[in-house]
Amino acid sequence: MPLYILGIESSCDDTAAAVIADDVILSNVAANQDIHSSFGGVVPELASRAHQQNIIPVIHAALQKANINKNQLAAVAYTRGPGLLGSLLVGASFSKAFALGLNIPLIEVDHLQAHILAHFIHNAEKSNPVPSFPFLCLTVSGGHTQIVIVKDHFNMHIIGQTIDDAAGETFDKAAKIMGLPYPGGPFIDKLAREGDPGRFSFAKPNIPALNFSFSGLKTSILYFLRDRIKENKDFIEQNKADLCASVQKTIIDILLAKLEKAAFETGIREIAIAGGVSANSGLRSSLNAMKDKNGWNVFIPPLSYTTDNAAMIAVTGYFKYLKKNFALQSDAPYARSRF
Ligand code: KG4
Ligand code: ZN
Repeated sequence: MPLYILGIESSCDDTAAAVIADDVILSNVAANQDIHSSFGGVVPELASRAHQQNIIPVIHAALQKANINKNQLAAVAYTRGPGLLGSLLVGASFSKAFALGLNIPLIEVDHLQAHILAHFIHNAEKSNPVPSFPFLCLTVSGGHTQIVIVKDHFNMHIIGQTIDDAAGETFDKAAKIMGLPYPGGPFIDKLAREGDPGRFSFAKPNIPALNFSFSGLKTSILYFLRDRIKENKDFIEQNKADLCASVQKTIIDILLAKLEKAAFETGIREIAIAGGVSANSGLRSSLNAMKDKNGWNVFIPPLSYTTDNAAMIAVTGYFKYLKKNFALQSDAPYARSRF
C-alpha cells in the first residue's frame, strides 16, 4: 500500500492542496486569489480571509481528483513558514484539526525546502529524472533568491542570497512601474517574447561572493523611465515589449552569472532551479543553453511545480514521514526563513 499524503499550502495568496502516493503525484489543486491584482500586491488580511473561504473546497477537490477517501490518508503535511502569518495560520489550523480528527500524523514543512524538493515529485509513469546529491539549486521566488547546496533531502546550505529585494519582487516592481498588473512576472515574460532584449541596458550590481542585490536595478529602471517619460509621455506604451525583454534579460544575466560562479567554485554540475521565477521562459531557455557549454545536468521543474503549489508540500511530507519526523499540535507558524 502506498503512503497517501495530503499537502496543504497557504503561505501567501494561493490556497493549494495535493495528494501524493509515496512520491507519485495524484492531484494538485490551487485556488488563486485574483482580489489582490487591483491593489498591486498581496493584501494580507484579504489573503487570509480568502484562504478561509477556499481551503475546504480545495482539499475536497484534491481528494476527489486523487480518487481517495480521507480515511486512506497516512498523514497531513502543511506549510509552517515562511510566509504571511495570517495566511499560514489558516493552513496550519486546518491541518492540525484534520490530522487530529483523522488520528494521523501531522507534518510541518518549510516552504523554501519544499520548492527545492519539488524536483523529486514523480509523474505516474515515474519517467522524469531527478537530481542526484549534491546538487545546486537556484531558488527564485517572490520573497527569496538563494543559491543552495542540497546534500540530502534535508541537508541544505545557503551559499548565496539576496541582500535586499528578491528576483520575483524585482519582476513585480518593474511591471508595476510599467503599469502592468500584479503579479507582473508572467506579464513581463509574455511581452518579452516579442521584444529586443538588447535594446535597453540597466545597471548591474557588483556584489561580492555569491550574493545578489536587486534594489539598484529597480531604481535604475524607475529613473530611466521617469526621464524618458519627460520627453515622451507614451514612451512605455510604445516600447513595452523591448522594455520587458531588456529588464528580463538583465535579471536573468544577474542570476545565471552567480549560479555559474557557484558551480565553478563548488565543482557541482547537477544544477536545478526552483520557485515562481523558475517559470520564466527566458530563464528556462538561458539555463538550457548553458548546460552544454558547462557540462551541466540541468533540472527545470514542470510549470505546475514552479509557483506556489501543494504538491511540493506533499512530497516533502513524504520524505519527512519516512524519517518519522512528525510535528506537534503546538508548533506555531513562522514568518521569516529558518533554514
Ligand atoms: O514561488 P512563488 O509562487 O511565491 C513565493 O514563494 O514568493 O513566486 C511568485 C513570484 C512572483 O514574484 C511572480 O511574479 C514570479 O514568481 N513569477 C514569474 C513568472 N511566473 C511567476 N516571474 C517571471 N516570469 C514568470 N513567468
Ligand atoms: Zn513560493
